[in-house]
Amino acid sequence: MSNKASEPKIIKPLPSALDGTMTVPGDKSISHRAILFSAMAEGTSRLLGVLDSSDVRASIEAVQKLGAIVSLEKQPDGSLAGGVEGWGPAGPKQPDGPIDCGNSGTTARLLMGVLAPWDIEVRIEGDESLSKRPMRRITAPLMKMGVQFDPAGAETLPITERGCRNLRAITYNSPMASAQLKTAVLLAGIRANGTTELNEPSVSRNHTELMLPEYGVETTAGERTAQVKGPATMHSAEIRVPGDPSSAAFVVCAALMKPGSAVQIENVSLNTARTGFLMTLERMGADVATRRTGSAGKEPYGIISACYTPRLHGCEIPGHKIASLVDEVPVLSLVAAHAHGITVFRNVEELRAKESDRLDAIVTGLAQLGVDAWTEGDDLFIEGQPGLVVPEGLVFDSHGDHRLAMTWALVGLTGKVPVSVTDFDNVDVSYPDFLDDMQKLCH
Ligand code: S3P
Repeated sequence: MSNKASEPKIIKPLPSALDGTMTVPGDKSISHRAILFSAMAEGTSRLLGVLDSSDVRASIEAVQKLGAIVSLEKQPDGSLAGGVEGWGPAGPKQPDGPIDCGNSGTTARLLMGVLAPWDIEVRIEGDESLSKRPMRRITAPLMKMGVQFDPAGAETLPITERGCRNLRAITYNSPMASAQLKTAVLLAGIRANGTTELNEPSVSRNHTELMLPEYGVETTAGERTAQVKGPATMHSAEIRVPGDPSSAAFVVCAALMKPGSAVQIENVSLNTARTGFLMTLERMGADVATRRTGSAGKEPYGIISACYTPRLHGCEIPGHKIASLVDEVPVLSLVAAHAHGITVFRNVEELRAKESDRLDAIVTGLAQLGVDAWTEGDDLFIEGQPGLVVPEGLVFDSHGDHRLAMTWALVGLTGKVPVSVTDFDNVDVSYPDFLDDMQKLCH
């Protein structure tokens, strides 16, 4: 994982254009939720298409330690499928040691909401990167509901949580558009007395609101608001996880940059809270399209197609759209580096608090390519350089961050000279077969 150093990986140019149809692994956000919500529910839930990655395994191991019985098995397509028997109204058991969330912010933050209504004491830990990420945003509202944390004012992991059986329902006006924060509060609210409401300054991903009703929780969801009515007993559900748009984004951007490419990605989530990157690419003049083919529960899915686009132009992405593409800013920045004119991402301060300081990493990595990128306050500016020639022998630092590793890998894959990327193995966090899948699209 991101704590251990290995030799930088050499990423060679793909032998041809990207061509054909593929699928990407299951959505990471929905996979985490499927595991955690099923563990909270009474009975055995059936899950299909779950992402098999180190992040999702952190959630699986966490619920196992708390008493859920997980019988997911590897499928020929690489996904996990099977049952999760939850603890239901009996609650989780006191684990016999700390819960290590590894690199997974989603596991750590959502788990705090999962544990909130139970009278057990759990120490939550993470790897070096996760131990630097802000947690106060989650502990602050949960403390208002009656949960105790030790140390009480802790900003970062490790943190010990002691839940409370008589949680207070609250209305919380979140200072940021964060689906992790929203989910932690709503999960706690399921067992509080009354309606728990979460309001946010702009729209964040809504998988929790779409999935909780499948588990029998009365949930309402609006543009920037969501409520759950407690106390509710969760029952088991059947969940099919669609492909991850955040993984698809790397294939789409590779196709846009590699001459002659034309790809189709099937069975991928087309939830508009996640497809902001496609709207941005369209505004940049990219040849991309979507077609809805069905829905898994309330999650729409379909086909994304993308073709090589030689002439892209910069655009401005307003702050209220950032949550819909927050994980795609690194790869969009690389596309912007090839476009005519300046691209501006407004209010991207959250990027400093991801698996690494992604703002700093984008500016430094693009500078290695000879591209001017800078921050002014909370905004990121990239001055595109059409026809950009990649110097030989570049070594990019992934900072142990899966999305940076894949972004910098695209420089080598879509270009004419190899590049090296440090700690490339961290792609295991979200897309373990990324390189193989890219190779398979070259015939
Ligand atoms: C996620 C929400 C986002 C996102 C992360 C996954 C989720 O984080 O960046 O990769 O599954 O809820 P924030 O809630 O911090 O914005």
